[in-house]
Amino acid sequence: MSQHWGKAMSAEEARAAMKSDAPTDREIGEGSVNASIRDELRRVDGLYGQAIDYAREFIDDVRAGKPFDFSEATPLVNGFIDSVFRNESAAAAIGRLKSFDEYTYTHCINVSILAVILGRKLGYAREKLEVLGIAGLFHDVGKATIPEAILNKPGKLTDEEMAVMRTHPLRGNKLLREQKGIPVEVLRGCLEHHEKHDGSGYPRGLKGDAISDYSRLLAVVDVYDALTSRRVYKEPMPPGKVLGMMYTWRVTDFHPNIVEQFIKSLGVYPVGSFVRLSSGDHAVVVDHNPAAPLSPLVHIAFDQAMRPIVGSTQDLSGRDDDLKIMDVINPDDHQVDVYSFLR
Ligand SMILES: [Fe+2]
Repeated sequence: MSQHWGKAMSAEEARAAMKSDAPTDREIGEGSVNASIRDELRRVDGLYGQAIDYAREFIDDVRAGKPFDFSEATPLVNGFIDSVFRNESAAAAIGRLKSFDEYTYTHCINVSILAVILGRKLGYAREKLEVLGIAGLFHDVGKATIPEAILNKPGKLTDEEMAVMRTHPLRGNKLLREQKGIPVEVLRGCLEHHEKHDGSGYPRGLKGDAISDYSRLLAVVDVYDALTSRRVYKEPMPPGKVLGMMYTWRVTDFHPNIVEQFIKSLGVYPVGSFVRLSSGDHAVVVDHNPAAPLSPLVHIAFDQAMRPIVGSTQDLSGRDDDLKIMDVINPDDHQVDVYSFLR
């Protein structure tokens, strides 16, 4: 399948992204370190399974025109928050690990987890993270009322089909308003997550500060998850490539500095990225180094000719030999299962 990867972030752009001076009380170096990535991946894997069951239930209920059970959302989101505080790289990686399951269910969970990660980076207190995580879980609930022939159409949507698809924020907002006790920020997140900073989004073409802070944040993580996930009609794109593309859209689509903060929280090369090193060898990023976002921990697993080698894990920060990342590679082009190196 032909694929347009877009331009990866240049080293200069990556450095510029790292220098962003957005107001935040969580700076690089304060990343979560209470659990190893392997231990936390195992833990969050179990939680993710429960979340899939819940997502299947509430989405299927909405499809059947039944009221859905809102009560399980809060404990699930609190589980995500706990996981993010133990090791946010693991929480961020789990979504990519699960992107082969059905997108309808995984997307709402991934957006919830990624929103918590970004909200934490922006200094949100725990109570705000909880509302944000719930907003992530339900942001696309309106899609459950869109005909499946449109929702899962393998090809390009016609203008008419696109117009129907673009009603999902309004449909979702209406569904949520019919429930009791849903916070207004969750209602707005659902309604506004496709609005863009320059006013070119939908459904209302809101601009800048007219878009709620929760909605601006959901917009960022929604795009990231959509592009890095496998769909019936497209291959997943490598996380590092997607961050590079989002960086180029940062002025038009997103609130100032929010993409930069998202890149800071995931690392320029998120865990699970497949990269080519200056030595020519190929490696998988196995951990994010918050103090050196361009120099993560990598597991070198393939030589220059992509032949498997006896692997070694290397910290790319502060090296005498100047070993560094040169490029982000699509692992699917080489049948490499990057996540087998994380377990
Ligand atoms: Fe959406």
